[in-house]
This record gives sequence, structure tokens and C-alpha cells, in this order.
Amino acid sequence: MRAFVVLYILLFTHISRAASSSLSTSHRKRSHSLLSRGRSSRTIETTPPSFVSSAWFTSWHSSDFTLSDISWSKYTTLNYAVATTTTSVSTIGLTAEDKQLLPQFVQACKKNGVLAILSIGGWTGSRYFSTAVSTSTNRKAFAKAVMKVVLQYQLDGIDFDWEYPGRQGIGNNRVSKNDSANFLLFLQTLRLQNGAKNLVISAAVSMSVFTGSNGHPLSDVSGFAKVLSYIAIMNYDNFGPWSPVVGPNAALDDSCAPLQYQDGSAKSGVKAWTSAGFPADQIVLGVATYGHSYRVNPSNAYNASQQIHPYVPFNSTQQPSGDKWNPTTGVFDFWGLINAGFLNADGTPANGIDYDFDTCSQTPFVYNSKTDVMVSYDDATSFAAKGNYIKTAGLLGFAMWEAGGDSNDILLDAIRSAL
Ligand SMILES: *[C@@H]1O[C@H](CO)[C@@H](O)[C@H](O)[C@H]1NC(C)=O
Ligand SMILES: *[C@@H]1O[C@H](CO)[C@@H](O)[C@H](O)[C@H]1NC(C)=O
Ligand SMILES: *[C@@H]1O[C@H](CO)[C@@H](O)[C@H](O)[C@H]1NC(C)=O
Repeated sequence: MRAFVVLYILLFTHISRAASSSLSTSHRKRSHSLLSRGRSSRTIETTPPSFVSSAWFTSWHSSDFTLSDISWSKYTTLNYAVATTTTSVSTIGLTAEDKQLLPQFVQACKKNGVLAILSIGGWTGSRYFSTAVSTSTNRKAFAKAVMKVVLQYQLDGIDFDWEYPGRQGIGNNRVSKNDSANFLLFLQTLRLQNGAKNLVISAAVSMSVFTGSNGHPLSDVSGFAKVLSYIAIMNYDNFGPWSPVVGPNAALDDSCAPLQYQDGSAKSGVKAWTSAGFPADQIVLGVATYGHSYRVNPSNAYNASQQIHPYVPFNSTQQPSGDKWNPTTGVFDFWGLINAGFLNADGTPANGIDYDFDTCSQTPFVYNSKTDVMVSYDDATSFAAKGNYIKTAGLLGFAMWEAGGDSNDILLDAIRSAL
């Protein structure tokens, strides 16, 4: 399964997602006492945001979805994807294109009163995080390199999208059992740099808590909450072409799913992190503007009442192609589902398309019986449900992967209205 995850996600260029911070702050101040080297102690104060409405802006889609296509007034924060770790701990990797586009991104953010965050890492750019945080010398050098980029590009913050501390992601990342502990030491070092006190420092994280030296999720991550402004839980790709059956891409809940398909959800992710001591009001929910497609034989697609439903087998040798951003992986952005005729321009299911809203995952499925293609995705209803959950669970906000995946702000407006 992991191999397929790697393969597919690699192909998507699916990278980072993080979150950001805010403008309208009620200025809750938190005192963080950081012990450095166990001797001296310094107290820093950061101002966590009070609400985060954010999305990732991907450089590699920027010719289709430009900076001026961003609905600036609807965001507190935008994350630029993505800078990478490099073989040199003192160098944050930015391509020639990034060096052109990032300053324009920051300028547009500032013009619109939106926080400009740079994401570092992602699926393909996390290779050298482990090395960068491995020793005290490297942590200092890496912190200085980060601050150099912050100053050079006048950033409001950095989003660490390490996939993943203490365990393998894409396949060739450096991994150490000390990663999570070293990451915390690094974040503390970074927070103490000149000019870093009020920096937005976030992390995009998986639904399971950072892996500890014993290979299991850490039982206490409260130390991370003292130095991170917030985390964004990447609640997507729960099911995909690597899975045994069609399932929800981004379930809100999975505790009500068949036992063998309880593969994570917004609620289980938040529960994992809060149980390990990460405060709910520093958690941003990662939400997806895309879905995964599967080839499903009609004999499997329909149940006895002739309705489509999740957890059906699919033919993995006949992966449908996705939209033009994802020609091989079967991913459809929300606009791609409209272009491909699954949905009407207003995001509702098109004529002749079967639709099921799964009440457990609170996500929709569509099925085209002419092409045998079933898609699990998010729509206005599922985004509104996630917005309501963010509100009732007291989370900090949302981070959408990705800004350019929506169509006419149908998803963005739905989650914002719920909040
Ligand atoms: C992990 O950290 C411990 C304690 O600092 C150190 O002794 C050990 O060598 C480190 N292991 C690795 C793999 O870096
Ligand atoms: C068929 O699936 C639909 C949608 O999930 C569900 O409401 C209905 O109860 C199912 N019918 C049967 C007979 O299982
Ligand atoms: C899946 O598709 C392949 C290629 O078209 C076909 O040979 C195979 O029989 C299909 N498998 C199932 C279970 O339908």
C-alpha cells in the first residue's frame, strides 16, 4: 500500500500544504519559557492568530491560476508552495521560477492585507529535513537560513511541511529516530532568532502525531504547541487508488464507517493531536478541493436499492485519467469535475450522474455509469459540514489544498459561511 501511495502521490506532484495565520487577532499572548541548554532560560511571547482562513498557492499551477485569481478578501493567510530542503543546511531551495514569483506573491499578499507564508518541504522537498535538524550546529545554520529567506522575501511566516519526522514519506528522505525530538529543538532555536518572535511558524502534519524514537506517535507534543503558531492537519488522501476499495478522500468522521475502513478522518486526527496535548485552538483543518477517481463496474457500483455507495471494489488496472492538472493520477480538482461533466457549473451533480452523500464521512460520491467512473470528492455540503465542525470543536480555522482547485469559490464560500 505504501508503495502505491508513494507512486501516486509522487505523480500528483502533490506537495505541501500548510496553514497560516491571521489579521484579526484578539491578541491572546502566550508566554513561552524556552530552556536553552538547560541552563539559561529565555521567555518569548508570540501572538497566535485568532482565526485562520488559508490556502496553498502552487507555483506549478500559477500559469492557469494566477495571483490575481486568488480571492484575496476571503483569506487571512496564503501559503506559497513550495521551497525545498537541500543538501546544504544553509540553503533553502527555491527554483529560478520561485525567485521570480515569490516576490510577486508577497507583494500581492501585502497589498491585500493577507499574511504571506512560505511552505518548506512537501512530498518531494522533505528529503534533508532530518539532516538539517540533526545537530545543534545544523539547527543553528538551518534557523539562520530560514531567517535569511524570511528577511530577503519579507515573509510573515514559514510553514514546515516535513513529510514526515521519524518516518519515511516519498521513499528517499533521510529519516532518524531522533527526528521529532530534533525538530522540536530546531523550532525552539528558530523562535529565538532575531525577528522570529512574531513570525507565523506553522507545520503541516499528518493525521497521526509526530513519530517518536520508538516508532510510535509521541504521547506528548505540548512542547511543539509552545513554539508553533499552529499545525494544519492534512486530512486528505484517506483513500485513493492505492486503497482496497473506493472510500472517502477527506472524511469528516470515520468512527461510523465499517470497522475495516476506519482509515482516519478530521475528527480522528484532531482527537489524536489533542490527546497528545496539542490545543484545539492551535489546530487548523486541512481541507481538499480535489477528489480521487476509480473505475467501478456497474455490478459493484449499485446496491439493492439501485443507489451508489462507498466501500465498493474498483479495477485498479483501469485508472481513469483525472483533469488536466492530473492526467495520470486520476485526481479531479473541483473545477475538473465540472469540466468533465460530473457536476454542473454550480457544483451540483449533473443530469445522468449518480450521487450519494455518505452520512458518516459527510462527503459526496458521484458515478458516471457510461464510463464506469466513480469519484470521491468534496462539495459545498461537505465543506459546510467541515466548517461547522471547525466551529464546534473550537479549531483555529482551515487550510485549503489548493486555492486553484475551487470553482467560483463554491467550496471556499461554503466553509467560510459555516464559520
Ligand atoms: C539520538 O539522540 C541520542 C541522544 O542525544 C544520541 O545519543 C543518538 O546518537 C542519536 N541517534 C541518532 C540516530 O541520531
Ligand atoms: C443503498 O445505498 C444508499 C446510499 O448509501 C442507502 O441509503 C441505502 O439504504 C442502501 N440500500 C440498501 C438496500 O442497502
Ligand atoms: C480490470 O480491467 C482489466 C483491463 O481492462 C480487465 O482485463 C480485467 O478483467 C478487469 N478486472 C475486473 C475485476 O473487472
